[in-house]
Amino acid sequence: MRGDESYAGARSFFVFEKAVRELTGYRYILPVHQGRAAERILMNVACGPGKTVLANSHFDTTRANVEASGASAVDLPVPEALQFDVPAPFKGDMDTRVLESKIRELGAGNIPMVIMTLTNNSLGGQPASMRNLREVSEIARHYRIPVILDAARFAENAFFIKLREPGFATRPVREIAQEMFSYAAGCMMSAKKDALVNIGGFLALNDSVWVAKCRELLILTEGFPTYGGLAGRDLEALAQGLAEILDEHYLTYRLRSVAYLGDGLRRSGVPIVEPPGGHAVYVDAKKFLPHIPPSRYPAQTLVCELYRTGGIRSVEIGSLMFGRSQNGTFVPAAMELVRLALPRRVYTQSHIDFVIEVFADIAQRASTLRGLRLLESNPRLAHFTAKLEPEAV
Ligand SMILES: Cc1ncc(COP(=O)(O)O)c(C=O)c1O
Repeated sequence: MRGDESYAGARSFFVFEKAVRELTGYRYILPVHQGRAAERILMNVACGPGKTVLANSHFDTTRANVEASGASAVDLPVPEALQFDVPAPFKGDMDTRVLESKIRELGAGNIPMVIMTLTNNSLGGQPASMRNLREVSEIARHYRIPVILDAARFAENAFFIKLREPGFATRPVREIAQEMFSYAAGCMMSAKKDALVNIGGFLALNDSVWVAKCRELLILTEGFPTYGGLAGRDLEALAQGLAEILDEHYLTYRLRSVAYLGDGLRRSGVPIVEPPGGHAVYVDAKKFLPHIPPSRYPAQTLVCELYRTGGIRSVEIGSLMFGRSQNGTFVPAAMELVRLALPRRVYTQSHIDFVIEVFADIAQRASTLRGLRLLESNPRLAHFTAKLEPEAV
């Protein structure tokens, strides 16, 4: 690979553009420095006060960008997505019956887009089925609402479809991914996930009106449309990553590594979201630390304990991330999860064994852990910078 670092018209851009277009089929491809830049640009253009975005589940930055535009973000997961101990193949599906009734209730003109997050990061890294994508697309088309994919983990989602959905076992995963993209009018991509790069992302769209406005914002805040805040070498690496991620041997290894961590935690009696997701195992902290109420952040308590005991960095997906204060009253999130995400091509089996050992140690003294008190937080994306302290004995 050779990065062309020209300001405009860099060769590397066209390598990148070709790779994204051949995979997704979308007409206009804008590079951005990471996924949330794509979110911010698109939400600024398409959303605003009075609008509502519907999704199988919004990722935290997606939700924050929808809300920052003045719009509302509503999640419509299938009921089994919240039954963490029930293994089901496609817990990332959207509840299509609720989708249709929500569109009627709110009015199609007030819904700028329907988002499918693939895989569903906020609720266990669970995949959506092709059948569900097709249904969501049909309903949305009927009401003339564009479907946008949050495609951060499109390859893992496609491979789950190949493994679990009837009719896909013999189809190449690239072809499955192309079919997934065909049910949407565009996608936002954090390329740090299923494009195997250290930094990068893109926004890909079919709509020429949206894209003209998005390009303007891109120039305003990211850079010229042939680099969008990225170096030429990043664009080259991204194109290569999109090819390598679809290697089915790699995907087999990837999903098996995550399942191995899940097996180990289950053996130690740690309650996890079943089945393990594509990129992470999610621990159900509500069950693991039942003596700590949501207002004392059981999942964040476990996050801190993992770091103190084993230097293991994880992420809370619970009341610190999604809890709210309504008229001074604490409204907890629907779940208290700890996400153990596995960076791609970083860990060996012994790292995973170490994580399992640390969990076994914490499990033995779980009942002695104390919750946390929130000292300081911002109104948006509080969990990135919040300050907490251990609850007094
Ligand atoms: C599903 C999903 N969407 C969007 C993002 C945001 O992407 P980035 O971190 O590149 O800004 C992430 C990041 O973790 C994600 O997992």
